[in-house]
Amino acid sequence: MATTDTPKAGLEDTVATSSAICYLDGDRGVLAYCGYDIHELARHATFEEVCYLLWHRRLPTRAELGDLQSQFAAGRHLPEGVIRVMRTLPPSDGMDTLRTLTSVLSHFDPDANDKSPQANYRKAVRLTAQIGTLVAVMGRLAKGQGVVAPDPVLGYAANFLYMLTGERPGGLATRAFDVALILHADHELNASTFAARVAAATLTDIHSAVVGAIGALKGPLHGGANAEVMKMLLDIGADAPVERAEDVVRAKLARKEKIPGFGHRVYHTEDPRATHLRQMSKDLCQRAGMPIWYEMSERIEALVKAEKKLNPNVDFYSASTYHALGIATDLFTPIFAVSRMSGWTAHVLEQYANNRLIRPRAEYVGPVYPQRYVPLESR
Ligand SMILES: CC(C)(COP(=O)(O)OP(=O)(O)OC[C@H]1O[C@@H](n2cnc3c(N)ncnc32)[C@H](O)[C@@H]1OP(=O)(O)O)[C@@H](O)C(=O)NCCC(=O)NCCS
Repeated sequence: MATTDTPKAGLEDTVATSSAICYLDGDRGVLAYCGYDIHELARHATFEEVCYLLWHRRLPTRAELGDLQSQFAAGRHLPEGVIRVMRTLPPSDGMDTLRTLTSVLSHFDPDANDKSPQANYRKAVRLTAQIGTLVAVMGRLAKGQGVVAPDPVLGYAANFLYMLTGERPGGLATRAFDVALILHADHELNASTFAARVAAATLTDIHSAVVGAIGALKGPLHGGANAEVMKMLLDIGADAPVERAEDVVRAKLARKEKIPGFGHRVYHTEDPRATHLRQMSKDLCQRAGMPIWYEMSERIEALVKAEKKLNPNVDFYSASTYHALGIATDLFTPIFAVSRMSGWTAHVLEQYANNRLIRPRAEYVGPVYPQRYVPLESR
């Protein structure tokens, strides 16, 4: 049987499917959702509008947006059984808890056994609503605090911060978080989205597909990098002179360790999402009275650019941004998942709509065929 040429390691530059959702140009640093430039969306849109855009390929009218907001409000309440399971889990990594509980959600979903396009769309909306509540409740329980019920009047970003902190967030924090959600919503065929599409292409259910995606997002080469960045900053220490950041990073590079939050498979310029997050980190760290985290990040960026010619990616400045918003490091990657649920589900729906099983080939590099079977006693 004929196979194609050996692919590049990690499927670099390999076009694996067609999609109408996300446009990426790594040479020009362009990211666009359904044709809308990310900078324009970050300046003008809300996360709810972006969700609608990803699912429908067009921006909503006022009435359509109102409908989606109502659906989110209705979907935000978690089944009591899910919270019960959450309480029984031992303390663990936030992404482990999120993976397990997203799977648990499927057992309570009213459309669990309905695979019609209408039911799948309802599940996409419901999952996107529920995951915000799930992560906020995870954050509360981890601190021994009680659950805060969602407020139907608040939008997605404000509701998340409210359910997490128990306090109504101010305008700056709400907008910053809204923009962070917009920036993380989709990114073409990144590892977790590819995982979701591969699963969906077997015609498994949408919950199973996104549970696989959550597992892939957890890895430190993917979404897990934002928590790794914060751990690095905390290790350097807020009280240390800012120059210590350079010493720590130089030592890591000398040991050939990767610096979390730098480098990207697709972008050869600045990651357009990092441009916004850098500014948000600066503003929020300043406002929170902790400018050190931004200053340290800036030093690290300059050093890694000079030494390795690598740019920061989405995860670098999101770390200090979330920290300045008072969010625990363990929730950083789960928050990435809160936003990316919109993109994952959009891709899963797109896959279902024009499906063929994704089943590539491997170039065989094992022992030559055929090997002779040697009986156990003769080996
Ligand atoms: C994102 C990432 C996985 C892309 O990986 P990739 O396209 O497979 O690139 P590679 O890992 O092959 O790296 C290519 C070269 O750049 C170096 N490099 C890449 N990212 C680096 C980083 N963050 N720190 C130091 N060196 C890095 C590699 O060591 C390698 O150098 P070499 O050719 O001398 O061996 C990679 O840049 C990385 O691991 N970054 C850190 C984790 C991270 O921030 N992930 C979030 C991505 S949004």
